Amino acid sequence: MFKPYFRPRRLRGSEELRRMVRETQLSVDDLIYPMFVTFEDKDKTSIPSMPGQFQLSIEQLVKEVHEAKSLGIPAVLLFGIPAKKDDVGSDSCDDDHGIIQRALRAVKESVSGMLVMTDVCFCEYTDHGHCGVIKNEYVDNDATLDLLAKQAVSHARAGADVVAPSGMMDGMVAAIRTGLDEAGFEATPILSYAVKYASAFYGPFRDAVASAPKFGDRLTHQMDPANASEALREAELDVEEGADMLMVKPALSYLDVIRILKERYELPLAAYNVSGEYAMVKAAAQNGWVDEKAITLEILTSIKRAGADMILTYHAKDAARWLG
Ligand code: PBG
Repeated sequence: MFKPYFRPRRLRGSEELRRMVRETQLSVDDLIYPMFVTFEDKDKTSIPSMPGQFQLSIEQLVKEVHEAKSLGIPAVLLFGIPAKKDDVGSDSCDDDHGIIQRALRAVKESVSGMLVMTDVCFCEYTDHGHCGVIKNEYVDNDATLDLLAKQAVSHARAGADVVAPSGMMDGMVAAIRTGLDEAGFEATPILSYAVKYASAFYGPFRDAVASAPKFGDRLTHQMDPANASEALREAELDVEEGADMLMVKPALSYLDVIRILKERYELPLAAYNVSGEYAMVKAAAQNGWVDEKAITLEILTSIKRAGADMILTYHAKDAARWLG
């Protein structure tokens, strides 16, 4: 009878052995929790396509940030839903009345020891739903850059610890770095959504913040899902422009891209486990078709194994509980 000489199964024989040889450790320290804050006073409004996630009033947001902190989550990322949208997304740059600025001040006043990041983009704030200024039905890159710098500075002034530009405008990191430095925020880091694909996985998010474009799509600025070499070029530019951390988004369909960026650059690397990835897990779990805890931890571990140092995920609170 044939007997194998090599037996990898030996090291899988007990949980103790498996623990000892485990190569990837998922930890609550890796998690960043994305949250939606709305101008409305109503406590929380559920987001149908993202079960368990809510549009939160400022008051409710503060409570939720406290809860995230008590679970050991080190960072949150805020998205704003403004009372009024206009063609240039004015609310996002409004020091006094902007939804993000008010939310930042409220959180910073009441919670310490939590890193608060903000998404820097215009699609949640413009009435046309595009990520910048529109000229001839095209997002005008250079006109948008000044506004992005203005928005980032306004966020920093209101207390943002990290700004995360997500609009995929050419030169956005340099423009924001210059703006921040000129305003005295040279210590504020930039987490750049360096490699962001034009993805159908953002569908539920666009319901959550009503940011679907009113006409056209985002194909002229977000990346083609078929491209990986181009991701290196995008990342390279952001590194040169002064990004402190890089991000790949979405995560699951782009694990290969996470891996190649990790191998090429020394900067801390984040991956965004986006709304559509979350919605699929939730829908299947609600039907009893998958084991939610097991599949979520497997997904997050796979993103980490691919090379992500940090994971932005709507599963953050559940994962923190399961890991704790
Ligand atoms: C843009 C932005 C988007 C997401 C994060 N920042 C949407 C888009 O590009 O259309 C998507 C996040 C998710 O799907 O969870 N401000």
